[in-house]
Amino acid sequence: MSVLEIKNLHVSVADKEILKGLNLTISSNETIALLGPNGNGKSTLLQTIMGNPNYKITKGQILLDNKDITSLEVDERSKLGIFLGMQYPSEVPGVNNADFLKASLNAHREKPVSLFEFYKLLNNAYDRVSIPFEMSNRNLNEGFSGGEKKKNEILQMLILNPTFVMLDEIDSGLDVDAIQIVASVIKEKQDGNKGFLIVSHYARLYDLINVDKAVVLVNGKVATTGGRELIKKIDSEGYEWIKKELGIEIEKETTMNQVSIGSCATKEALKGQK
Ligand SMILES: Nc1ncnc2c1ncn2[C@@H]1O[C@H](COP(=O)(O)OP(=O)(O)O)[C@@H](O)[C@H]1O
Ligand SMILES: [Mg+2]
Repeated sequence: MSVLEIKNLHVSVADKEILKGLNLTISSNETIALLGPNGNGKSTLLQTIMGNPNYKITKGQILLDNKDITSLEVDERSKLGIFLGMQYPSEVPGVNNADFLKASLNAHREKPVSLFEFYKLLNNAYDRVSIPFEMSNRNLNEGFSGGEKKKNEILQMLILNPTFVMLDEIDSGLDVDAIQIVASVIKEKQDGNKGFLIVSHYARLYDLINVDKAVVLVNGKVATTGGRELIKKIDSEGYEWIKKELGIEIEKETTMNQVSIGSCATKEALKGQK
């Protein structure tokens, strides 16, 4: 079993401190649901774990099996088995999707994959996420719909087979059928040999997969942890109770945030605005 440990992490983006002493441990046999109001640092945490250089670690450490990986480059972390399915996957014109996937896979192997083996893997992966195989010939994410971009992230996960999978709002932009597909792939991969850190605003995704722990991130720190009941509470009540019950004042509260905190909560918030 592998363990990813985040210790007292402080991270700044564009000279503003976003993560303010965050502690979290993920084992390679558990799934953590990461929730929290918008703008509180969820994506920052995932990007920092992956090693995005725009996110500056000013204090604290990231350890993988007790080895300090805080200063490793993105590709080195990827080779150690860490993967991030991004909230906003970039379009990369001029880079063929299949070539990109083959290059990524080869970067993780000592010997390059044979063409036969690669196409078998690729075919299976396309099949699994229900995207037509012809899309492997298109440029990476270029002109893809929101749902196709998200499914393409899952496809990369299937090809690379990482130990730690971080998925950032993988379900946003997906229709109900696509959510079912993505959730069934996640569930299939929850075989006890992978750790998942999954950010979503919606209980409907978490309902379809295994969840060991729910963690709520507020103001760049873990505010509270719990189980499925915590996800349910957020889905129906939003985050209002954080202040009342935990005495934590959420620093950012805009109309935008209220509208995207949870499905039922969203309906309630919208009612109030009419
Ligand atoms: N690349 C960036 N440049 C400037 N500010 C950023 C960048 N990434 C994140 N931030 C800021 O960091 C804060 C936390 O954002 P984020 O981690 O995306 O929150 P969440 O994923 O919880 O919604 C926000 O105020 C956001 O504007
Ligand atoms: Mg985010």
